[in-house]
Amino acid sequence: MTHESTLGPSSALAAHDPQRPRFHFLPPAGWLNDPNGLTQWNGTYHLFYQHNPHAPVHERIHWGHATSADLVTWAHEPTALTPSAGPDEDGCWSGVLVDDGGTPTIVYSGHRGGRELPCVATGSADLRTWRKLPDNPVIAGPPDGLDLTAFRDHCVWREGGRWRQLIGSGIRGVGGAALLYESADLRRWEYVGPLLTGDVTHGSTDDLSWSGSMWECVDLFRLGPDGAAGADVLVASAWHEGATHYPLYWTGDYRGDRFQPVHQGPLDLGGRYFYAPQSFRDEHDRRIMFGWLQEGRDESTVAAAGWSGVMSLPRVVTLGADGRPALAPAAEVTMLRTDPVTVAAGPLGDADPRRLWLGDQFDVEARLVLDPGAAVDLVVRATEDGAERTVVTVSRAADGPGGRIAVDRAAGSLDPSVDATPRGGPVPLGPGGEVDLRVIVDHSAVEIFANGRALTTRVYPTRPDAGGVELRGRAGGSRVERAGAWRMTDIWA
Ligand code: FRU
Repeated sequence: MTHESTLGPSSALAAHDPQRPRFHFLPPAGWLNDPNGLTQWNGTYHLFYQHNPHAPVHERIHWGHATSADLVTWAHEPTALTPSAGPDEDGCWSGVLVDDGGTPTIVYSGHRGGRELPCVATGSADLRTWRKLPDNPVIAGPPDGLDLTAFRDHCVWREGGRWRQLIGSGIRGVGGAALLYESADLRRWEYVGPLLTGDVTHGSTDDLSWSGSMWECVDLFRLGPDGAAGADVLVASAWHEGATHYPLYWTGDYRGDRFQPVHQGPLDLGGRYFYAPQSFRDEHDRRIMFGWLQEGRDESTVAAAGWSGVMSLPRVVTLGADGRPALAPAAEVTMLRTDPVTVAAGPLGDADPRRLWLGDQFDVEARLVLDPGAAVDLVVRATEDGAERTVVTVSRAADGPGGRIAVDRAAGSLDPSVDATPRGGPVPLGPGGEVDLRVIVDHSAVEIFANGRALTTRVYPTRPDAGGVELRGRAGGSRVERAGAWRMTDIWA
């Protein structure tokens, strides 16, 4: 794996932080936020990302770049976009990469003096060298007559021999908005209208389906076969008054210039810990998604650590039987498994918890069966005495088929400055109370999947013995139908 040689001393610092993941993608040091420009180009996966190589703060954002043959091991590539005199002087913000008749082309948001404007850059055949168009920005300003909260981030696709794009925005007093544009050549764009707008006047930040005053990182794609109803998906990240909240989805029908929603909900139950996701269709026809795992530590701790932000593992998105998006780690993630640990099947009574030692980087998978009213805990990153522990709970309602997944980080860390907000939400259970639970832990990064619902979070245990795992029944009757656990390999040798 190649490393950029220009990185400062924070690179060495970051490498020794026990909270730093070892099998997730991260830059060598500095700051990472959104995934950008995702593509599989002539077989190679390309991951670009919002990056400040100089410090772990969101400032003068570049486009970092990495490549992979398998979606899980990555090589660092030279920085793709660097802010320069012009409309991106203060930052090259989020965007996408499209194939313009064989020319790799990036559409991104130039950021200067608090203004965001769409810019274009064309790439060399290996996607390593990028040239910004001399006449950037390609859109001079937001549409006339609209009072917008923001105007940034792009989703671009080919349709009926023309290009279409969505730009993330919000209409003051109305709510978030995805603004639709059209073009023949990616350089001259006509405004069509809002594809969809939200409603900022109802709901609050505690409500996981309220969409805030601005939609960041809009992403539109189709999950079902052509013509199937309700199989188009719009994803956006809800932003409000300077704060990032959570990624949302709308399933529905994209027809003409409008999107008619059917279902709306949180794309990940962890809130801002899986933020600004972007997706692409790979050569195996899968819809692959990455998202940004933000930090839960305070600024001074992050500054001392020298790094901030983790890219999620690749997730495959499909349309669930309930018509909502279902998320699961890409199959390639299992290539990182090593040292299998057996977890006994059978009833999960109070008396016989399964105790394991898996350390700080592992993957646990279990098919559980819950009776009505049952709850099962999977405790991870636990110290011997339980002083530090993070508890993942799957439960089934006493009456009716409803299930729930939750994470309790109240004792996740002895460091009182880290975020410990509880998170959770509904999970569809099988007809007999079945749930396929997968919990992947990589030091401070935790990705939980339960029957297609995802819950991503961060935990920062302070003690070196915080590597215990326990699977136990907490209430009611439940059993383990099958289960396995593995240590995970380092991708950063
Ligand atoms: C989302 C976001 C985008 C913006 C980028 C800037 O996290 O705020 O809206 O383009 O990050 O880095």
